[in-house]
Amino acid sequence: MSKEIFNPTRFNKSKNPDFDHVLEAHLSRRGVLKGGLGLSAMATFGAFGLAGCGSSNNSGSSAAAVSKASLGFDSIAGSKTDAVSVPPGYTAQVLAPWGQPITAEGSAWQADGTNNATDQANAMGMHHDGLHFFPLNDEGTDGLLCVNHEYIDQNALHPNGSDKDADGIRSSVDQVRKEINAHGVAVVRIQLQGGQWQTVDNDPLNRRYTGATTMDISGPLANSSMLETPFSPDGSQARGTLNNCGNGYTPWGTYLTCEENWPGYFINKGATTADQDRIGIDTSGTTRYGWETVAGSDEELVDEFTRFDVTPTGNSASEDYRNEANGHGYIVEIDPYTANSRAVKRTALGRFRHEGCTFGKLAEGQPIVFYSGHDSRFEYMYKFVSDALWDPADAETTDRMAMGDKYMDAGTLYVARFDADGVGSWLPLTLDSMTTDGGVLADHFATLADIILNTAGAADLVGATPMDRPEWCAVDPFTGSVYLTLTNNTRRDETTGTNPANPRLNNKFGHVIRWDEGEAHTEFTWDIFVFGSDAAGDANTNLSGLNEFNQFASPDGLAFDQRGIMWIQTDNGADEVENYTNDQMLAVVPSQLTDADGNLDVINADNQAQLRRFFVGPNGCEVTGFTITPDYTTMFVSIQHPGNWPYSSNAAEQTPAGMSLRPRASVVAIRKSDGGELGV
Ligand code: FEO
Ligand code: CA
Ligand code: CA
Repeated sequence: MSKEIFNPTRFNKSKNPDFDHVLEAHLSRRGVLKGGLGLSAMATFGAFGLAGCGSSNNSGSSAAAVSKASLGFDSIAGSKTDAVSVPPGYTAQVLAPWGQPITAEGSAWQADGTNNATDQANAMGMHHDGLHFFPLNDEGTDGLLCVNHEYIDQNALHPNGSDKDADGIRSSVDQVRKEINAHGVAVVRIQLQGGQWQTVDNDPLNRRYTGATTMDISGPLANSSMLETPFSPDGSQARGTLNNCGNGYTPWGTYLTCEENWPGYFINKGATTADQDRIGIDTSGTTRYGWETVAGSDEELVDEFTRFDVTPTGNSASEDYRNEANGHGYIVEIDPYTANSRAVKRTALGRFRHEGCTFGKLAEGQPIVFYSGHDSRFEYMYKFVSDALWDPADAETTDRMAMGDKYMDAGTLYVARFDADGVGSWLPLTLDSMTTDGGVLADHFATLADIILNTAGAADLVGATPMDRPEWCAVDPFTGSVYLTLTNNTRRDETTGTNPANPRLNNKFGHVIRWDEGEAHTEFTWDIFVFGSDAAGDANTNLSGLNEFNQFASPDGLAFDQRGIMWIQTDNGADEVENYTNDQMLAVVPSQLTDADGNLDVINADNQAQLRRFFVGPNGCEVTGFTITPDYTTMFVSIQHPGNWPYSSNAAEQTPAGMSLRPRASVVAIRKSDGGELGV
């Protein structure tokens, strides 16, 4: 969730184990981290989604346990301008901004906001977020960029903002369709020519998935009566993907888009269900954008607006859209390499506000693990462990969605309990799982599909640890350690208490936690890698000793490249840091940070130079989403909800003082001026 649309409601009303105010020992826990540098090497199959494109990079060759990457730039100062900032010797290019047409049916973006719904369905969506580059050649100069479009700014989208009246009632069907079409995912072919990236207009692989696109349902909820709607009587399909925030990709070359803050798009003014109460479906007024308020219009097609009102009005699910929201809240898989391929919602990975989806260290003959956090205050961290065992040959398949069927439809969903002393347990969410009151989940749920539908409710019952808003996950390709951003939680107070994994009251700056999996799928060890803070923060706040050149707040986007560099992006809402700099991206090589005993270290006062600010975004924006070409010469990030940018194709060129632009979220392509490897 972006801070722009953050809903402060505490949806988790459970009383799960919060410990009293524990603020000790968070640094010493590093000593119990398993393995230190001795963990086995990682196979890098499909690390860049190369499957099927003939590349030799995904050879599965093993790597050493310590990254050899050395950051080759000096930390840059903070910035508060209508421009991006990069280190000396780097360039930043605006690429594929909101509204740029990508298929022949779209017409050119108009600076007055007058493009219609059809234009928007054939153009880049709004508010770019997670993204991934899928190469089409060995050089990585030609490829497909998949981009999430999380939400919209109605003031920028329309000539004069939203048409809603004082009661939130909409009147323009085209405006509402345009908003639905500005959500979802874009797939656009891009090529590097003369040091500049260009989109390939009307490429056959270009396409949009919007808030209205028909998608298939797979996994435990496929063909469930809980997904029956007049549109899909057999419960096999759902329409649209909404609030696509973080992303992932798979070892077999598909894209994963994550449905995050979707409950706000649906309303139930009647009797609500347990899962609706737990997740926070609207019950009064109108939905976030009021799309349901144009239901019944003469122009409405196939209940395209009616479906957002899930109030039971008929005699059964065949007569109303009571089940429409049940088709949302999932990880969605897309095959970018196949034109117009149908997206599939993988329900086995749980239903909640998915921030991202990251696979763990691959090992032949072992299950694949996918990690996904639930971004809301006091919500949980989840992992899915596949039944199928990883076969590296599957990285080369051309039937990619069949690999999703193989690895993502059957398995076990777990939720994390972080215990004191740096140990933790993954608690399975299955019918026979023990609940904290001595029973089993089968006392509360009849089927696995029931558990999935109300994933967070099931997690309450088994005693998961309420976290400070789990955002993105990233896996160190050398050590296999998993890192998770916990962006902030200012509602963690004396009443809620702290717990060892979320040890700060009024956690306005957030932190990055990490863990190593144990021998069993149910065990892990953990510590806290870095606490966000302003440089002037007191001893109870600036626990990691940050200084002017790496102070940050609200870590959100997180990624490793395969050289072992971790990139941390921010969605900051803390004035102490915001007064110094706009949102930013920092870099660090965690596997190189070791203490005197050779164990992985955390960020502390002695290693400040290892955490460096690499990039700063323009005023008003959030920096989010990360992907890099296989040769590490271009990095793509998203600039979401900028205030008055971009002025030109040079992302680092400032909007002239006094000039007011219609802002456009955009991809930014970062390169070295000499075309060399980034970051080192
Ligand atoms: Fe859309 Fe949790 O960030
Ligand atoms: Ca985010
Ligand atoms: Ca955020």
